[in-house]
Amino acid sequence: MTFPESLPQENRFTAIPATLGDLPDLLALEEEAFPTGERWSEDIFKEELARRPEGIKILKDGNKIIGYFEVEHESRDGIHVGDIGSIAVSNDYRGQGIGEYLLKTAISTLKSQGVSLIRAKTRYNNVEMLNLLGRFEFKRVGATPNYYRSGHDSVDFEMRLR
Ligand SMILES: CC(C)(COP(=O)(O)OP(=O)(O)OC[C@H]1O[C@@H](n2cnc3c(N)ncnc32)[C@H](O)[C@@H]1OP(=O)(O)O)[C@@H](O)C(=O)NCCC(=O)NCCS
Repeated sequence: MTFPESLPQENRFTAIPATLGDLPDLLALEEEAFPTGERWSEDIFKEELARRPEGIKILKDGNKIIGYFEVEHESRDGIHVGDIGSIAVSNDYRGQGIGEYLLKTAISTLKSQGVSLIRAKTRYNNVEMLNLLGRFEFKRVGATPNYYRSGHDSVDFEMRLR
């Protein structure tokens, strides 16, 4: 089957909540996907998995984790805000619409949690992620200087939901 008939990815993989047992594979994917100054540490993953088991969802091809996203939500000043904290796809699986599927699923997860605003950040020169966000109704709302430990700035996005 050829592109785009092979999509949607929902037919191939399904995002499922991660468990502590997924930690080694998640760390390996994190190392593959992010430069040193942007990776989540083992401690952060452990804390997230313990605190909010539904917050990290993974995609598996057989036993291999090929992508994940992290979302969280909270009420601030009367607004229920959702954050897309991280999203990554394994090198060998990029360019097949999996990132788009993960982002779509992250958005629908936050929608189902009742948020009225979704926020996302990415490094100012992360072309792949900027392109991906551009395919959804995210608007650029600003930038955060030195957001990453590497010293890079972020570009900040928001999507308002009706
Ligand atoms: C950003 C990231 C998640 C995108 O994942 P991905 O699975 O490659 O994303 P997609 O396949 O949905 O889209 C990537 C490109 O492939 C194209 N594409 C989609 N389906 C395709 C297919 N079946 N065949 C060929 N190309 C396809 C898309 O048009 C898109 O092109 P564009 O970006 O030039 O517009 C991935 O690059 C990644 O993990 N990067 C490292 C981690 C990172 O920086 N994450 C963001 C942190 S904020």
